[in-house]
Amino acid sequence: MPISFSLVHAAPDAVDTPLLVVILPADPAWPAVLGGIDQQVNGAITRTLARRDFRGGRDETMLFVGAEQGVQRILLVGRGAAPLTRTTARRAASVAARQASKLGLTEMHLFLAEAGAAHVEGLVIGAGAGSWSYPDLQTPPAAKDRRARLERVGVIASDQDETRAAFAAGVAIAEGQAIARRLGQMPGNYCTPDTFVEVGREIAARHSMGLTVLGRSDMAELGMGSFLCVAQGTTQEPRLVALEYNGGPAGQQPVVLIGKGLCFDTGGISIKPAPEMEWMKFDMSGAGGVMGAMEAIGQLKLPINVVGIIGSTTNMPSGEAVKPGDVVRASNGKTIEIINTDAEGRLVLADLLVFAKRYNPAIAIDAATLTGAIVIGLGHNAVGVFSTDKQAADEVLAAGELAGEPGWAMPMWDDYREQIKSDVADMKNTGGRAGGSITAALFLQEFVDGFPFVHLDVAGTAYSQADLGWIPKGPTGTPVGTFVEFVRARARA
Ligand code: BES
Ligand code: MN
Ligand code: ZN
Repeated sequence: MPISFSLVHAAPDAVDTPLLVVILPADPAWPAVLGGIDQQVNGAITRTLARRDFRGGRDETMLFVGAEQGVQRILLVGRGAAPLTRTTARRAASVAARQASKLGLTEMHLFLAEAGAAHVEGLVIGAGAGSWSYPDLQTPPAAKDRRARLERVGVIASDQDETRAAFAAGVAIAEGQAIARRLGQMPGNYCTPDTFVEVGREIAARHSMGLTVLGRSDMAELGMGSFLCVAQGTTQEPRLVALEYNGGPAGQQPVVLIGKGLCFDTGGISIKPAPEMEWMKFDMSGAGGVMGAMEAIGQLKLPINVVGIIGSTTNMPSGEAVKPGDVVRASNGKTIEIINTDAEGRLVLADLLVFAKRYNPAIAIDAATLTGAIVIGLGHNAVGVFSTDKQAADEVLAAGELAGEPGWAMPMWDDYREQIKSDVADMKNTGGRAGGSITAALFLQEFVDGFPFVHLDVAGTAYSQADLGWIPKGPTGTPVGTFVEFVRARARA
């Protein structure tokens, strides 16, 4: 059940809540508006601060027992010495949500005295992130051991148009991220290409978007030999799903978002080693990100046209599977020599990029868990950002920064192109180990015809094996935030 958020315009000490969360900076003073609460606990909070038992360090928490009625518990959460931003507010709210979940409380209220509109947005996103889970496939504990789940989050803030808009945006982004994270956590036998059809259908219906769904035979008619060769080894129906959101004027060129949706990537005939292969269920995170972003954009009712396109299949070895040395033809007529069947994401994206052309994009941005090389190059803290268009790349970098999904620009120099030249076809699908993320991006560029294009390699950032503080380990929701911020900025321009 999705968490429900509300904006509360009341004095924090007048709220009836099982848990009042007070987010404080490093070496905090107790906000004057909370004087009443300190009185309720006989000065315990100000005494604690005076003793410096609680110092407001990042992620630091302390719980106080409150009254029977009204404010029933008080949780101090430190946000550290770093400047207050949407991202630091997000982290503190997430820490609070995780504490509330541990306590088994169904409701909490967040209070950040110095919160502006952007921080309200961060609070909502953080509370959504911290309370997210995927319990579907686990047997719940016995009733007596069970803790309730966090269901309602109130954000205490001033009654202003700007705050209300930021709150609504936070909810939209949090719900978009929840969609992406759910898809990312679903095992490959639960999240299939048809799952993307279902989710796409729901989003389209909720927000009156156009919906296009293609299967194997439709794609064959369009000559999508590149996408389809990846799907050769699976009996599952491969799917191309396009969502068309028309919030802008008719005829306005849309922003096109494109996602790699490999529901599982075994590598195919060039099979991956067994250790950690189970991780490859996350190989649909780009597509999950597009779905999440489309949900958020629909909720936000942004005045702009946006198209979301995902290509989904499963990369499997079989007697029918594509094999190294085979040559396939993409829908723009270009031929590709398959060197490694594990470089499948770019093959799917190639035909999606050709398909995108029909929408006459103002810009296309794809997100894909494309290369292991980007994990080596940038680790888990930066999205690889590739574009031959510096201005477009900068715009995406700015969006990612704002969203708390920072990216880093990578080179797209022609010199690297030598590595994907083929003796028998127009190009090879891999260019060797050196600069593997760059040659992958240059491969994609071959299928872009006359529109600005930015490629996001999210292989290192879409899923985290470690707790990131603002989010427990697992799918991170990246690149939902980047997509949404980019589209929001374009809608404002
Ligand atoms: N989905 C993988 C990328 C990946 C690998 C993400 C490891 C996270 C961790 C992609 O389809 C892939 O297999 N890429 C190959 C390309 C190579 C064969 C040129 C890779 O990175 O090893
Ligand atoms: Mn692969
Ligand atoms: Zn893959």
